[in-house]
Amino acid sequence: MLPEYTAIAFDKVIEKGGRTKPWTVLVETDRGIKPYVVKMFTPHLVENRDVVTNEVLGNVLAREFDLPVPEAALIHMDENFRMTIHDPRAQMAFDAADERIKFGSALVEGNYLFNPAFTKTQAEKMIDLDTLFAFDVFIRNRDRNAGKPNLLVTGKAAWLIDHELGFEIDQQAIADFKAGQWDEKFYLYHIFLNYLKKSRLATKRDYFGAFTEYLRTLNVNIIQPYLQQLGNHGYDQSRHTMIRDYLREIRQNSPNFDALLKSFIA
Ligand SMILES: Nc1ncnc2c1ncn2[C@@H]1O[C@H](COP(=O)(O)OP(=O)(O)O)[C@@H](O)[C@H]1O
Ligand SMILES: [Mg+2]
Repeated sequence: MLPEYTAIAFDKVIEKGGRTKPWTVLVETDRGIKPYVVKMFTPHLVENRDVVTNEVLGNVLAREFDLPVPEAALIHMDENFRMTIHDPRAQMAFDAADERIKFGSALVEGNYLFNPAFTKTQAEKMIDLDTLFAFDVFIRNRDRNAGKPNLLVTGKAAWLIDHELGFEIDQQAIADFKAGQWDEKFYLYHIFLNYLKKSRLATKRDYFGAFTEYLRTLNVNIIQPYLQQLGNHGYDQSRHTMIRDYLREIRQNSPNFDALLKSFIA
């Protein structure tokens, strides 16, 4: 389960970059008061894209592949919290936001966005390029591209954020995988594709080794308590079986997935 915290003070709206304009707020955690970034989704996005489930699963599964993600939590925003918002536009956004418990991630301090102008050598000091590429293909996340890197850099590390549009999974996705096919929109625009493509043949052969080993040993059941928790908070549960089936199908055929990944960077 994710920890559940209560927001105690509004800080600001993050205006730059993304579509959803998340907020920084102070929340009461079991380790004291900490700044968190909370996604203020509209009911429309929650209903149509199941964005909160995607954020939670993206964060939880990234850990299984040793990819750095900020601590995630579910954040409760009540009337006392609302009284700490003095900016009228933020008050309107609060009232327009979906009322359920929200997805938040611990503020990554002093970060800058990953920049596609970085060289491959610079980028690979920050993160395993092949593992992140494979992970995004796996979770069907189209939202890590040059326009929207959704990768926060601090010092020498890069942190994954923003999985709201991942897990674009349906029966066709499973059928395609069984047939050795994959819709190119799920890898063609990935921020790391060109770095991987430019590599030497010998390097390419070794790519995805770590990812495939994590995948082979992935316990899909670990997502169950998180899905249950979301269900308890009134989030839709109708996609859960499909998501589990999809993850298991890929896990059970990890060599095929490895071959598919290698074909994308050939
Ligand atoms: N945990 C975090 N720590 C620091 N900044 C964050 C964090 N999460 C999001 N942000 C900032 O907020 C911006 C938008 O967040 P993101 O999750 O990408 O939302 P959107 O759906 O609007 O793209 C990011 O580009 C980043 O600048
Ligand atoms: Mg974003």
